Amino acid sequence: MSHLIAPSILAADFANLQRDIEMINNSEADWFHIDVMDGMFVPNISFGTPVIKAIKKHAKKTMDVHLMIVDPDRYITDFKNAGANILTVHYEACTHLHRTVQAIKAEGMQAGVSLNPHTPIAVLEDIITDLDLVLIMSVNPGFGGQSFIENTYKKVIQLRDLIDKSGSKAVIEIDGGVNDKNCLKLITAGADVLVAGSFVFKSENPSETITKLKNG
Ligand code: DX5
Ligand code: ZN
Repeated sequence: MSHLIAPSILAADFANLQRDIEMINNSEADWFHIDVMDGMFVPNISFGTPVIKAIKKHAKKTMDVHLMIVDPDRYITDFKNAGANILTVHYEACTHLHRTVQAIKAEGMQAGVSLNPHTPIAVLEDIITDLDLVLIMSVNPGFGGQSFIENTYKKVIQLRDLIDKSGSKAVIEIDGGVNDKNCLKLITAGADVLVAGSFVFKSENPSETITKLKNG
Protein backbone atom coordinates (compact mmCIF):
# COMPACT_ATOMS: atom_id res chain seq x y z
CA MET A 1 0.00 0.00 0.00
CA SER A 2 1.12 3.57 -0.46
CA HIS A 3 2.00 5.17 2.84
CA LEU A 4 -0.43 7.08 5.05
CA ILE A 5 0.03 10.37 6.90
CA ALA A 6 -1.39 10.90 10.39
CA PRO A 7 -1.01 14.48 11.67
CA SER A 8 -0.69 14.61 15.45
CA ILE A 9 -3.32 16.78 17.13
CA LEU A 10 -0.91 17.35 20.04
CA ALA A 11 0.78 20.05 17.94
CA ALA A 12 -2.50 21.71 16.89
CA ASP A 13 -3.74 25.02 18.31
CA PHE A 14 -6.13 23.84 21.06
CA ALA A 15 -7.88 27.21 21.04
CA ASN A 16 -8.62 26.71 17.34
CA LEU A 17 -9.11 22.98 17.33
CA GLN A 18 -12.08 22.94 14.96
CA ARG A 19 -10.12 25.02 12.42
CA ASP A 20 -7.20 22.58 12.59
CA ILE A 21 -9.52 19.56 12.32
CA GLU A 22 -11.11 21.01 9.18
CA MET A 23 -7.63 21.62 7.76
CA ILE A 24 -6.90 17.89 8.20
CA ASN A 25 -10.33 16.94 6.78
CA ASN A 26 -9.60 18.98 3.65
CA SER A 27 -5.96 17.86 3.30
CA GLU A 28 -4.37 14.71 1.92
CA ALA A 29 -3.93 13.38 5.45
CA ASP A 30 -5.30 9.90 6.08
CA TRP A 31 -5.78 9.66 9.85
CA PHE A 32 -6.06 11.85 12.94
CA HIS A 33 -3.31 10.86 15.41
CA ILE A 34 -4.46 11.56 18.96
CA ASP A 35 -2.01 11.37 21.87
CA VAL A 36 -3.30 10.64 25.37
CA MET A 37 -0.76 11.18 28.19
CA ASP A 38 -1.42 10.56 31.87
CA GLY A 39 1.57 12.14 33.64
CA MET A 40 2.51 8.66 34.93
CA PHE A 41 3.63 6.54 32.00
CA VAL A 42 5.09 9.70 30.48
CA PRO A 43 6.10 12.92 32.28
CA ASN A 44 3.37 14.99 30.62
CA ILE A 45 -0.43 15.29 30.62
CA SER A 46 -2.28 15.96 27.36
CA PHE A 47 -6.05 15.40 27.23
CA GLY A 48 -8.64 12.66 27.65
CA THR A 49 -11.98 11.39 26.39
CA PRO A 50 -13.99 14.67 26.51
CA VAL A 51 -11.57 16.27 24.05
CA ILE A 52 -11.55 13.16 21.85
CA LYS A 53 -15.36 13.24 21.73
CA ALA A 54 -15.21 16.89 20.65
CA ILE A 55 -12.67 16.04 17.90
CA LYS A 56 -14.84 13.13 16.73
CA LYS A 57 -17.79 15.48 16.11
CA HIS A 58 -15.87 17.19 13.30
CA ALA A 59 -13.27 14.63 12.17
CA LYS A 60 -14.07 12.90 8.88
CA LYS A 61 -11.10 10.50 8.93
CA THR A 62 -9.90 7.53 10.98
CA MET A 63 -9.29 8.32 14.67
CA ASP A 64 -5.93 6.78 15.59
CA VAL A 65 -5.62 7.01 19.38
CA HIS A 66 -2.21 6.49 21.01
CA LEU A 67 -2.44 5.80 24.73
CA MET A 68 0.62 6.74 26.76
CA ILE A 69 -1.00 5.72 30.04
CA VAL A 70 -0.47 3.06 32.70
CA ASP A 71 -2.99 0.21 32.92
CA PRO A 72 -4.95 1.15 29.77
CA ASP A 73 -7.40 -1.75 30.28
CA ARG A 74 -9.38 0.51 32.63
CA TYR A 75 -10.43 2.81 29.79
CA ILE A 76 -10.79 0.68 26.64
CA THR A 77 -14.60 1.02 26.51
CA ASP A 78 -14.37 4.76 27.24
CA PHE A 79 -12.07 5.32 24.27
CA LYS A 80 -14.37 3.26 22.05
CA ASN A 81 -17.29 5.45 23.15
CA ALA A 82 -15.24 8.59 22.56
CA GLY A 83 -14.78 7.61 18.90
CA ALA A 84 -11.47 5.74 18.57
CA ASN A 85 -11.15 3.51 15.49
CA ILE A 86 -7.62 2.34 16.27
CA LEU A 87 -6.45 2.03 19.87
CA THR A 88 -2.72 1.67 20.53
CA VAL A 89 -1.29 0.77 23.93
CA HIS A 90 2.32 0.63 25.04
CA TYR A 91 4.06 -2.72 25.41
CA GLU A 92 5.81 -1.25 28.47
CA ALA A 93 2.47 -0.36 30.13
CA CYS A 94 0.72 -3.73 29.82
CA THR A 95 1.46 -6.72 32.06
CA HIS A 96 -1.08 -8.88 30.21
CA LEU A 97 -0.67 -7.51 26.71
CA HIS A 98 -2.48 -10.36 24.98
CA ARG A 99 -5.56 -9.81 27.12
CA THR A 100 -5.46 -6.06 26.47
CA VAL A 101 -5.22 -6.57 22.71
CA GLN A 102 -8.17 -8.98 22.73
CA ALA A 103 -10.22 -6.51 24.80
CA ILE A 104 -9.56 -3.74 22.25
CA LYS A 105 -10.69 -6.00 19.40
CA ALA A 106 -13.76 -7.15 21.35
CA GLU A 107 -14.84 -3.49 21.37
CA GLY A 108 -14.66 -3.45 17.58
CA MET A 109 -11.51 -1.33 17.34
CA GLN A 110 -8.24 -2.13 15.62
CA ALA A 111 -5.50 -2.99 18.09
CA GLY A 112 -2.06 -1.41 18.07
CA VAL A 113 1.00 -1.89 20.26
CA SER A 114 3.69 0.74 20.64
CA LEU A 115 7.36 0.21 21.52
CA ASN A 116 9.56 2.77 23.24
CA PRO A 117 12.94 3.48 21.60
CA HIS A 118 14.78 1.08 23.95
CA THR A 119 12.36 -1.84 23.50
CA PRO A 120 13.50 -4.43 20.94
CA ILE A 121 11.20 -5.61 18.13
CA ALA A 122 11.72 -9.24 19.23
CA VAL A 123 9.34 -8.82 22.20
CA LEU A 124 6.45 -8.84 19.70
CA GLU A 125 7.27 -12.28 18.25
CA ASP A 126 4.47 -14.08 20.10
CA ILE A 127 1.78 -11.46 19.54
CA ILE A 128 2.50 -10.05 16.09
CA THR A 129 -0.23 -12.07 14.32
CA ASP A 130 -2.85 -10.63 16.72
CA LEU A 131 -1.98 -7.03 15.93
CA ASP A 132 -3.45 -4.62 13.41
CA LEU A 133 -0.72 -2.03 13.96
CA VAL A 134 2.70 -1.63 15.53
CA LEU A 135 3.77 1.89 16.45
CA ILE A 136 7.53 2.37 16.70
CA MET A 137 8.38 5.40 18.82
CA SER A 138 11.16 7.34 17.12
CA VAL A 139 11.46 9.68 20.13
CA ASN A 140 10.90 9.03 23.82
CA PRO A 141 7.15 9.48 24.28
CA GLY A 142 5.76 12.44 26.17
CA PHE A 143 6.45 15.53 24.10
CA GLY A 144 6.16 16.79 20.56
CA GLY A 145 9.01 18.55 18.80
CA GLN A 146 11.87 16.18 19.72
CA SER A 147 14.64 14.95 17.42
CA PHE A 148 14.23 11.72 15.48
CA ILE A 149 16.28 8.77 16.81
CA GLU A 150 18.32 7.25 13.96
CA ASN A 151 18.19 3.70 15.37
CA THR A 152 14.52 3.65 14.24
CA TYR A 153 15.42 2.65 10.66
CA LYS A 154 16.98 -0.59 11.89
CA LYS A 155 13.86 -1.36 13.92
CA VAL A 156 11.55 -0.74 10.96
CA ILE A 157 13.56 -3.21 8.84
CA GLN A 158 13.46 -5.81 11.64
CA LEU A 159 9.72 -5.33 12.14
CA ARG A 160 9.00 -5.56 8.40
CA ASP A 161 10.88 -8.84 8.38
CA LEU A 162 8.95 -10.18 11.40
CA ILE A 163 5.61 -9.19 9.83
CA ASP A 164 6.44 -10.73 6.46
CA LYS A 165 7.76 -13.99 7.97
CA SER A 166 4.82 -14.41 10.37
CA GLY A 167 2.09 -13.54 7.86
CA SER A 168 0.83 -10.78 10.18
CA LYS A 169 -1.36 -8.08 8.65
CA ALA A 170 -0.04 -5.39 11.01
CA VAL A 171 0.84 -2.00 9.58
CA ILE A 172 3.96 -0.18 10.75
CA GLU A 173 3.48 3.34 12.13
CA ILE A 174 6.33 5.70 13.05
CA ASP A 175 5.85 8.44 15.64
CA GLY A 176 8.19 11.25 16.65
CA GLY A 177 10.42 13.69 14.83
CA VAL A 178 9.10 12.77 11.38
CA ASN A 179 9.91 15.37 8.70
CA ASP A 180 10.81 15.74 5.02
CA LYS A 181 14.39 14.57 5.71
CA ASN A 182 13.49 11.14 7.08
CA CYS A 183 10.09 10.29 5.54
CA LEU A 184 11.35 8.67 2.35
CA LYS A 185 13.98 6.64 4.21
CA LEU A 186 11.31 5.40 6.63
CA ILE A 187 8.99 4.36 3.82
CA THR A 188 11.84 2.62 2.01
CA ALA A 189 12.67 0.75 5.23
CA GLY A 190 9.07 -0.54 5.35
CA ALA A 191 6.93 2.00 7.23
CA ASP A 192 3.24 2.27 6.28
CA VAL A 193 2.02 5.21 8.40
CA LEU A 194 3.93 8.35 9.39
CA VAL A 195 2.78 10.50 12.32
CA ALA A 196 3.84 14.14 12.14
CA GLY A 197 3.08 16.83 14.71
CA SER A 198 5.41 19.83 14.81
CA PHE A 199 6.59 19.44 11.24
CA VAL A 200 2.99 19.88 10.03
CA PHE A 201 1.53 22.38 12.50
CA LYS A 202 4.59 24.62 12.91
CA SER A 203 4.95 24.98 9.15
CA GLU A 204 3.64 27.98 7.24
CA ASN A 205 1.16 25.94 5.24
CA PRO A 206 0.22 22.74 7.13
CA SER A 207 -1.92 21.37 4.32
CA GLU A 208 0.92 21.72 1.80
CA THR A 209 3.31 20.13 4.30
CA ILE A 210 0.98 17.13 4.56
CA THR A 211 1.01 16.85 0.75
CA LYS A 212 4.81 16.99 0.81
CA LEU A 213 4.97 14.09 3.30
CA LYS A 214 2.35 12.20 1.32
CA ASN A 215 4.48 12.47 -1.81
CA GLY A 216 7.55 11.26 0.12
C1 DX5 B 1 5.04 11.92 21.36
C2 DX5 B 1 3.73 11.68 20.64
C3 DX5 B 1 3.78 12.07 19.21
C4 DX5 B 1 4.03 13.53 18.98
C5 DX5 B 1 4.80 13.67 17.69
O1 DX5 B 1 5.00 11.35 22.61
O2 DX5 B 1 3.36 10.32 20.69
O3 DX5 B 1 2.63 11.64 18.49
O4 DX5 B 1 2.84 14.28 18.90
O5 DX5 B 1 5.18 14.98 17.56
P1 DX5 B 1 6.39 15.43 16.63
O6 DX5 B 1 6.00 15.04 15.23
O7 DX5 B 1 6.42 16.91 16.85
O8 DX5 B 1 7.62 14.71 17.10
ZN1 ZN C 1 1.70 9.55 19.27
